[in-house]
Order: sequence, then structure tokens, then C-alpha cells
Amino acid sequence: MGHRITVLGTGYLGATHAASMAELGHDVLGVDVDPGKVAKLNDGEVPFYEPGLQQILQAHLAGGRLRFTGSYAEAAAWGDVHFLTVGTPQKTGELSADLTAVEAVIDSLAPLLTTPAVVLGKSTVPVGTAAVLGARLRAVAPAGDEVELAWNPEFLREGFAVQDTIHPDRLVLGVDADRPGTAERLTREIYAQLLAEDVPLLVTDLATAELAKVAANAFLATKISFINAIADVCEAAGADVVRLADAIGYDDRIGRRFLNAGIGFGGGCLPKDIRAFMARAGELGVGHAMAFLREVDNVNMSRRAAMVERTRLAVGGSLLGARVAVLGAAFKPDSDDVRDSPALNVAGQMQLQGAAVSVYDPKATESCRRVFPTLTYATTALEACTRADAVLVLTEWEEFRQLAPESLAGQVGARVVIDGRNCLDPARWRAAGWTYLGVGRP
Ligand code: UDX
Repeated sequence: MGHRITVLGTGYLGATHAASMAELGHDVLGVDVDPGKVAKLNDGEVPFYEPGLQQILQAHLAGGRLRFTGSYAEAAAWGDVHFLTVGTPQKTGELSADLTAVEAVIDSLAPLLTTPAVVLGKSTVPVGTAAVLGARLRAVAPAGDEVELAWNPEFLREGFAVQDTIHPDRLVLGVDADRPGTAERLTREIYAQLLAEDVPLLVTDLATAELAKVAANAFLATKISFINAIADVCEAAGADVVRLADAIGYDDRIGRRFLNAGIGFGGGCLPKDIRAFMARAGELGVGHAMAFLREVDNVNMSRRAAMVERTRLAVGGSLLGARVAVLGAAFKPDSDDVRDSPALNVAGQMQLQGAAVSVYDPKATESCRRVFPTLTYATTALEACTRADAVLVLTEWEEFRQLAPESLAGQVGARVVIDGRNCLDPARWRAAGWTYLGVGRP
């Protein structure tokens, strides 16, 4: 049985959630204050690259199960379940999260709720936010205490957003223990198809649900910085971090995933979420317990400087006038997202130190141009590598794994390849006459 639901905010999370809920059989109204976004989505256009999303968006627009609007009045009238999916970016000049958009959604919706309704928050927020928003909602909504707020955090990964929404590892629902309502029943109905497939649903209090999301991201970030710290030790000791990760990864308690050393994590989530987590822990007076997260962040950021330094040494001691090819700019492969991208950061730093940097990315060139218009963008990997003094692979796109070192050799100025993601086969590149430098590899 389909529900009439709204999805408030149609960025990465919201657009994916709206289309995925239609895919699960619901009648969905997506709402956004940006008329440009609404128009694009209604035309079946996804404003970012996400495999599979465009297809289900278009299918459900055509089938009449999905529509987008700018009107909150329409949203309030549409259904009784409202998903809150706006962004919570890092505040400028501070570690904490900017809740302006979340609060704006609550303030726009609340006065229009004249009948019982459930608001399900999905955005990543500092612990304690849901309780405050719930009170704010009940105080303003004409339906008062019959409006319920619960938290259903989202764990999706970019590049697998649709799959992660429709086949998640688990669902988490935080409910207000002091005012039991219909949120759990409605959530079970909305996700009935997933529950039937044995996806676990963990019902918790609000704070636990909010924290589960940031704790998951903090753990993933810690895992990456851990292996990057080990990579430094490997380099000093002449060991190979890739084989080491294989060796420890066979232990189920450790696991091989998220143990790839390289230039570290970036993107729209991990960096800002761990910072907001540190800031919130500090506010709660338990900053000391989270102090290691600062180190996780430090280790991660230092990878970028280390890659610039490695390149400087590889091109003979000075970046000034050096020609550097950068392959990959997105924060991870199969994405056009360059938010806090380590690859783009490294490219930018080298350019600012006087190198002539030519960047090639299979999908992210347009997003790069917007944030870093002064870099040179090539249209093929080969073009980027022309007469290069060093070739840097900074995002592990499949296209770069497949590069033939023999044919690239004739194109470059010097056969130096720096593998910032340990994604190339060192033996193959060396056999073709290249100097191969990985991260944490002999
Ligand atoms: C992440 C979380 O995985 C997801 O659960 C959460 O909801 C949002 O944040 P995403 O931002 O899509 O998702 O990226 P993810 O695939 O987790 O990668 C994050 C960054 O870590 C990338 O820059 C990636 O290159 C880097 N990474 C990942 C490593 O450096 N090493 C690894 O072993 C794994």
C-alpha cells in the first residue's frame, strides 16, 4: 500500500530519496525552495551524476508517482509523512554544522500542519537537534501535539545512492520516548518492502539515532586515517601497506574495506560530519573523548600536503615551472562531486606553487571548473599527460587502472607516475620503464 509522502529538500539526499520512495510504490512530492532545481527535476534531469537515479526519476515522473514543487502549502496538504532531507554543511570558519536549512524547513512547514502528521528527519544533525526541532514544530503547528518528529538517519554512499536507499544494510528510527506516536507504525509501512527482505530496523531514542549516523562516519574516517598512518610507517620501514591491509583485513573483526591508503578521504560528508561531531562533543563537555577525531582529521589533511611534497621531490626539487598531469579530481571514482576533494586540493596546491597542472577527470570537469577555474582541464588522460614531468593518479577511476603504461610513455616528458590511490600495478609500470611511486609501498 503506497503512502502519500513529501521529501523536503531535493539535493543529493532528497532527490535520491524522493525517486527511491516512488520506486517503493509511494506517491511522492519533492519540495525545494530553489525553483531551478524543481524545474530540472520535473524535466527528469538529475543535477549531479548518480548511477541509476535518472532512470527511476524519469520512470516515476512519467508514471505520475513523483512530482516536484516549490510550495510548502502543497506539501502540507499532500500527505501526512514528511521526510526532511536538506543539507547541513560545515559553518564558515567553524567546525560545527550549519542548521539554517533544517530550521527553515521546520519553520516553513510547521504553521501549515493543521492535521496530525509525522516529520521524519534524515539529514545528519548534531545530537540533540531532533528534540529541539520537535518542540519547535509542536509549538507552532496548529495541530500541536499531534505532530510528531522522529529521526531516520541516512547512511547512503554517493555512487550507490539508489541501491543503498532501496537495499540498505539497516534502518534506524529514533523516536521521542516521551510521546509515543505513529512514527514507528508509519515507518514500518513505508519501508515494508525492505523489512520483508529482512533489512533490520533498529528503533531507538532520538539521540541514539542522531549519534548512530555520525558515529558510523567517524568510524569510517578513523579506519582510513589509521591505514594512512600505518602507510607512513610502512614507507619508513620498507613495507607494503597494500599487502599489510590484505593481511589484517582477513580478520573479520577488522575487515578489508576502508583500509585503502592514499591521499585520504574527502567529499560532502565524512570531513564535515567528523568536525561537527567534535564540535558537539565539546559542547557536551566530552571533548576529551573525541580528541582523537582531531588527529584523524589531521592525519587526513596531511596526506594532501604529503602528496604535493612527494611530487616536488619527484620533479627534481621545485614545482615552479614543472608540468604535472593530474588524473582524477572527484573525491572518489564514479562521482562528479568535488566537495572537499583531496585530488582537486592537491592539484590546486601544486598550481599555487607554480606548477603547470593539467587535470583530467572522466566526469568531474564541470564541477571542477566552478570551484577551481584557473586550473587547466584536459579532455582525455593522454592530453593531460602531454610532456608531463610527473603523472599523478589521484582518484581511482577504472579508466586509469586500464591505462597502458607503454603507450603513455611516448606522451610524457618524464616517465614518473605517482599513484595516490595505490590503484595501479607497480610491476607493470616499472616494466614499461616508469618510476612508480605509491603510498606506503616500497
Ligand atoms: C560516506 C559514507 O560512506 C556514507 O555511509 C555516509 O552516508 C556519507 O559519507 P561518501 O561520502 O559517498 O559516503 O563516500 P565514501 O565512499 O565513504 O568515501 C569517502 C572518502 O574516503 C572518499 O574520498 C574515498 O576516496 C576515501 N576512502 C575510502 C579512502 O581514502 N580509503 C578507503 O579505503 C575508502
